[in-house]
Amino acid sequence: MEKLEQLYEGKAKKVYRTNDPSTFWVYYKDSATAFNAQKKGEIEGKGVLNNLISAHFFAVLAEQGIENHFIKVISPCEMLVKKLEIVKVEVIIRNIVAGSMSKRLGVAEGTVLPTPVLEYSYKDDELGDPLINDYHIQALGLATPAEMRTIADMSFRINDILSKYMRGLNVLLVDFKLEFGRCNGRIILGDEISPDTCRFWDATTMEKLDKDRFRRDLGGVAEAYREIFNRLTGGETHVES
Ligand code: TMP
Repeated sequence: MEKLEQLYEGKAKKVYRTNDPSTFWVYYKDSATAFNAQKKGEIEGKGVLNNLISAHFFAVLAEQGIENHFIKVISPCEMLVKKLEIVKVEVIIRNIVAGSMSKRLGVAEGTVLPTPVLEYSYKDDELGDPLINDYHIQALGLATPAEMRTIADMSFRINDILSKYMRGLNVLLVDFKLEFGRCNGRIILGDEISPDTCRFWDATTMEKLDKDRFRRDLGGVAEAYREIFNRLTGGETHVES
């Protein structure tokens, strides 16, 4: 597989074309942003950790029948993925109140929700990814009702699978963000699943093991990402390419 020109550079990843038109090459950067890029920094080793953590989660989900874009890891900070036509809707699932839900609704962070909450936001950095609902999605033509039923069903299944899986590693899956795309007429999971896009709390100490350490200047950012990686994989970063 050959890496061709860069198609896109986001806040945490770069995407390249390859000599296979159905395959993209993703490079995970060490850069981190928060609050719609008002806060910027570098987390040493984040690119490698998020690439390998995402690869691990995508493999776990594929085994459980959740179709996703991951093909294979090709270097410590790079993976091959299927080309998707991205649906411009971000899906957030919350099991425990934190972050923007706590602020917006005045519910204390750490409140356990009796049923998971699903939120959508419009994937548009310039607008700061505003919250939207099914009616906006239909009216703006972002996805069809059938596509959104698939996306919601898949998101709740992913929540069940990953919540149980993380509980087995003594980690609470507090909330997370997913993105989906179209591939050969099917909806499949895309983007990444990492401490950038999930909140993980140690189930015993409630210590934050995710990007909130960066957002809130708590220190120990890289160590938290490394801890999640170690619990998932036993800590092996060697990659066969
Ligand atoms: P929030 O509480 O700030 O809305 O975040 C909810 C979840 O979504 C949290 O796990 C972090 C993730 N997230 C992203 O992946 N990208 C983003 O741009 C934001 C704001 C949140």
